[in-house]
Amino acid sequence: MTEDFDVKLVESDVRYTPGPEYKADSWLGDYETAYQAFLADPDGFWDRIARELDWIRPWDAVKEWKYPYARWFVNAKLNITANCLDRHVKNHRRNKVALLWQGEEGAERIYTYQKLLSEVSRFANGLRKIGVKKGDRVCIYMPMVPEQIIAMLACARIGAIHSVVFAGFGVTALNLRIREAEAKVVITADISIRRGKAIPLITTVQESILNAPSVEHLIIYRRRKEPPVEIRADFEKDFYGLMEGMPSECKPEVMDAEDPLFMLYTSGSTGTPKGIVHTSAGYMVGTYYTTKFVFDLKENDIYWCTADPGWITGHSYIVYGPLAVGATVFVTEMTPDYPDPGIWWKLIEEQKINVFYTAPTAIRMFMKMGEEWPDRYDLHSLRIIGSVGEPLNPEAFVWYHHAIGKDRCPIVDTWWQTETGMHMITTMVGEPMRPGFAGKAVPGVIADVVDKEGNSVPPGTGGFLAIKAPWPAMFRTVYKNDERYRKYWETIDGVYAAGDLAVKGRDGYIMVLGRADDIIIVAGHNIGTAEVESALVSHSAVAEAAVIGKPDPVKGNSIKAFVILRVGNKPGDKLMQDLIYHVRMTLGPIAVPHEIEFVDKLPKTRSGKIMRRVLKAKELGMDPGDISTLEE
Ligand code: PRX
Repeated sequence: MTEDFDVKLVESDVRYTPGPEYKADSWLGDYETAYQAFLADPDGFWDRIARELDWIRPWDAVKEWKYPYARWFVNAKLNITANCLDRHVKNHRRNKVALLWQGEEGAERIYTYQKLLSEVSRFANGLRKIGVKKGDRVCIYMPMVPEQIIAMLACARIGAIHSVVFAGFGVTALNLRIREAEAKVVITADISIRRGKAIPLITTVQESILNAPSVEHLIIYRRRKEPPVEIRADFEKDFYGLMEGMPSECKPEVMDAEDPLFMLYTSGSTGTPKGIVHTSAGYMVGTYYTTKFVFDLKENDIYWCTADPGWITGHSYIVYGPLAVGATVFVTEMTPDYPDPGIWWKLIEEQKINVFYTAPTAIRMFMKMGEEWPDRYDLHSLRIIGSVGEPLNPEAFVWYHHAIGKDRCPIVDTWWQTETGMHMITTMVGEPMRPGFAGKAVPGVIADVVDKEGNSVPPGTGGFLAIKAPWPAMFRTVYKNDERYRKYWETIDGVYAAGDLAVKGRDGYIMVLGRADDIIIVAGHNIGTAEVESALVSHSAVAEAAVIGKPDPVKGNSIKAFVILRVGNKPGDKLMQDLIYHVRMTLGPIAVPHEIEFVDKLPKTRSGKIMRRVLKAKELGMDPGDISTLEE
């Protein structure tokens, strides 16, 4: 991120303005008024929100900011699960549905707030019984079943730090994350179910913990009945076996505001993923506030976020935010195209979903399938629809607004990151929307587009997306790599550099263009080029590899790898398939290259760094830019 980024925007004036009732009925009211109220008294703003929640001990100060380190709700004591569960059970939501889960072939499970609290408590007691304590790391590698959410909340109940790993990762990726975190316990399921097929998870996990000495127990949620997977004595525990005989009450661990709540690995520009650490109070307040205000969630709404809890979107907007608000959350393990591409719209009709939150890659896939699929179903229950994960391009915006939102629902295109923990930029409900633009900073956040010196760029100009003041749900460090944390705040003087390129439009609307670094967003998943390269190089036939992202009309980007073979290996289809299989097994199916090209040489700087930028320009037939550092 050292070069200036020179883009001039030719702006369209297209605006979509939702009906006046949206603003009139919203929690926020008028955006500008709310934003100015925040600017006039930032601490007072967050103080008022935090007071809506339950605390064991209140804070001495809303924040303490010693650049680049923040403490929020200083010295407060709390437990996030007391807010996600007990607060509702104590008040009027005891019988309200918290989780409404649907599996394939009609399987349905319903948890009221009371039932969820009891199940979480029993599992938390089970974890305590096998010796899990506050501060211990627990790795959760599970499909999208209620047990995944129960496991997360149970960890939070007893102060154990969960590290959820998306179940689409392979052995090496999982092993690395378990070892990095020194997880004491791993929680998994025997299988996940996708498109009518059982996908085994257990073998991946068993292999991943072979050389992970920190792991004392493996807890398995056994879904397959005939025959059930075997539980090996002592070391392995059955998920429900662990809960058996456990009391359905579990005193929540008293957490300091700054005690870690969870860590979550995200791809970086090196081969090692970054363990993003979030703490208790600020994360709770930030996700509670944004869930309530950005989705404008009302008491009777049924809310559906299609993400997997294995990613930050699931942590913040399936689990912690919505449950802190007391929402009814619909969760499904079903894929968008099975048994047919109408399934999601059918679910919206059946469940009468009011607020729907998905990703551009899914929207573009549906766009390709045609409007006849959503048109078969009654989507009138929808009130607000959202998007996250990558830029929502204007064509996809227009389609989503019309085919799903029926020209009525506001779209909240939310820009944020694993690191930010909560929504940072969007167009708040009721405000005019501009296709291609995520919007403006959420009240509570100061966002801007800056040049490499940190100066605000004039309207119509491109630059780096930056956050100019701390916010409650900000990550506090990178696990065991605080230097990496500081880098986010030191790359551009005085601001948090998000790593994204953006353009500032008229009226302060921000258009996010994509990553400024070596991270490729494929179907909404962050993939580090270095991680794929090191997976390729770990194959015995590969000497060197370079990976780039290529624009893809549905996935956003696809992965192309350039590979130099070791002497004695012949390029060909068979080897290509071998390499693809190898990456699938090590990193997982989400990181598999879509294209591999065997080459004799890679463009490098004189100091030996691969110039992916040059490869990409050549591949796309574009100008490679400055190549003065390129070796002969
Ligand atoms: O490049 C931005 C893109 O996703 C990155 C963050 O990825 P991750 O940490 O996996 O979190 C994804 C879910 C929050 C960002 O740096 N991104 C996310 N949302 C948007 C986006 N790009 C454009 N528009 C968005 N709404």
